[in-house]
Amino acid sequence: MPEAAKTEVAGRISDAARRPGTPETDAPVLVVDQLVVDHRNRTTGEIFRAVDHVSLRIEAGESVAVVGESGSGKTTLALAATGLGPRGGGDIRLLGHSLSSVGRKQLRRLRPEVQVVFQDPHGSLDPRQSVRSGLKELRALQPKRTAWIDDAALLGRVRLAPELLERYPHQLSGGQAQRVCIARALLMRPRLIVADEPTSGLDVSVQADVLALLREIRTATGAALLMISHDLAVVRSVCDTVHVMYRGQVVESGPCERVFAEPENDYTRELLAAMPGARWRARR
Ligand SMILES: Nc1ncnc2c1ncn2[C@@H]1O[C@H](COP(=O)(O)OP(=O)(O)OP(=O)(O)O)[C@@H](O)[C@H]1O
Ligand SMILES: [Mg+2]
Repeated sequence: MPEAAKTEVAGRISDAARRPGTPETDAPVLVVDQLVVDHRNRTTGEIFRAVDHVSLRIEAGESVAVVGESGSGKTTLALAATGLGPRGGGDIRLLGHSLSSVGRKQLRRLRPEVQVVFQDPHGSLDPRQSVRSGLKELRALQPKRTAWIDDAALLGRVRLAPELLERYPHQLSGGQAQRVCIARALLMRPRLIVADEPTSGLDVSVQADVLALLREIRTATGAALLMISHDLAVVRSVCDTVHVMYRGQVVESGPCERVFAEPENDYTRELLAAMPGARWRARR
């Protein structure tokens, strides 16, 4: 998209983005302080520490990645950090409010500020609902918050034709379904979008488009992004800061440029060597 058009989109969205609900604040969007999450193995009953004293911080509009091998605790961290999953210990502050002490009413107001986009778009959409009826349901939950845009314009924001409103999830391609999920997130005008492997379930041919869309939305709406990914090329193209997780702990953190160019931790080095995204290093 030409620069001028980008600025125009940015202007339009941020003008509309006076969010009702939670007041504007200078507090970081998310602060995770010494988070601990234990899972119990259903078969053996053994307790397993999936997230082990993890701390991270996301400022308004910042784009932060969590990378690590499968099973390192990334999804558990993301779900706990956004109040959607179990949390054992530590503190989480969303827009300055500690999730441990916030009341139910306040929590209801805070929830829409964080929207999650999952790996499997078809799994996140109700198969019995058309795109339009799914949006209608969201609007009914948050009428004031979602009144800023109509359905067709919302789909336009994620580059989908309005005809798709009448379709059911099984009538959408993976890329289209993921755009619908992003549109649903966008409708709430969140201050934080959490994207858990948002492109790894998609055909390679549409991955780049979906990433470009996430980048564009970030710029246009000023939402912060917490991106979880195996793919370092993805992380590098979208994020400012990266945290590397290994067996439930963050072993290295820093600006993407620095961490990828001069990893300090042995595990980070291994990860870079093993991950598909590491190929960018060879290309440069
Ligand atoms: N609900 C659960 N009950 C028991 N164990 C769980 C549960 N969810 C996750 N785990 C375990 O916790 C660990 C971390 O899982 P998690 O899904 O957070 O990893 P991940 O880094 O997101 O992995 P992936 O890259 O494969 O998505 C794994 O060993 C997993 O088997
Ligand atoms: Mg995961």
